[in-house]
Amino acid sequence: MNAAIRAVVRTAIYYDIEVVGIREGYNGLIQGNFTKLGARSVSNIINMGGTILKSARSLEFKTKEGRQKAYDNCVAHGIDALVCIGGDGTFTGAQIFGEEFGIKVIGVPGTIDNDIFGTDNTIGYDTALNTAMEAIDKIRDTATSHNRIFFIEVMGRDAGFIALNSGIATGAIDILIPEETDSLEEMFNTFEKAKKRGKNSSIVVVAEGETLATTYELAKKTKEQFPEADIRVTILGHIQRGGAPSCADRVLASKLGYGAVTGLMKGLTNVMAGVRSNHIVYTPIEDAIRKHNEINQELLTISEILAL
Ligand code: F6P
Repeated sequence: MNAAIRAVVRTAIYYDIEVVGIREGYNGLIQGNFTKLGARSVSNIINMGGTILKSARSLEFKTKEGRQKAYDNCVAHGIDALVCIGGDGTFTGAQIFGEEFGIKVIGVPGTIDNDIFGTDNTIGYDTALNTAMEAIDKIRDTATSHNRIFFIEVMGRDAGFIALNSGIATGAIDILIPEETDSLEEMFNTFEKAKKRGKNSSIVVVAEGETLATTYELAKKTKEQFPEADIRVTILGHIQRGGAPSCADRVLASKLGYGAVTGLMKGLTNVMAGVRSNHIVYTPIEDAIRKHNEINQELLTISEILAL
């Protein structure tokens, strides 16, 4: 997100537009927690994880009174447009605020889950994916050396993009994601087949939002089915949401920050800036919230074939 903040600030200044950073999301907008941002205030942040402006979930912004306070602050500080970086929650707030007060809003998709419609990738996704991949690679060493089955849970409350792609990249035997209907029988079958083919160790990647069972329950049920198996569970957790952003994420964030400012300059509002097939595109924010990126079915097939 820092690379996006930097791009917004530098693009705006390039076009003689003043920029104010709002700390801690919509809470900061309500409390007037603003900081004037100049070209130098965003120096040396392109390589940093997290966000220098901090982030918060705001319950008050869900109320009309809260949003009124936020709008009053915008008027008091001469703010006539907002660039809102985040996911579904952020965009829903932006849409309501924009419609209620007529202030211009533009969304920038920032979530590691990659589940926002209107962009091929969201900011943070590639970095999270690579972190997950590297962690799973390391776990593989124990799995192989000790002939173990590992259930590894990756983030994705409602989406399996990290699980599917990190699973393919690390040669997982099975990948469980919320977008697919999985069954224990199918998973056990996969283990059976693997055993027959002489596989001694296996990695199963599970998305946090998998609906079949929790990762611990999956491991427990597998142990009941295969009592001789040596099984472990690793939950990767928030390690996936931090660290220096990947090159792809920095470039994406730079494009989107630039796209947000130039979009506003063209008069666009209530849209999200995204990148599709390398081009900056704008999608109605409503579609970005309500529609969803489809899981690539071909990738699922590939993962099954390659897990032989
Ligand atoms: O929404 C992105 C996400 O990374 C989800 O995959 C995950 O469930 C959630 O954030 C974790 O949020 P929190 O840090 O609030 O626990």
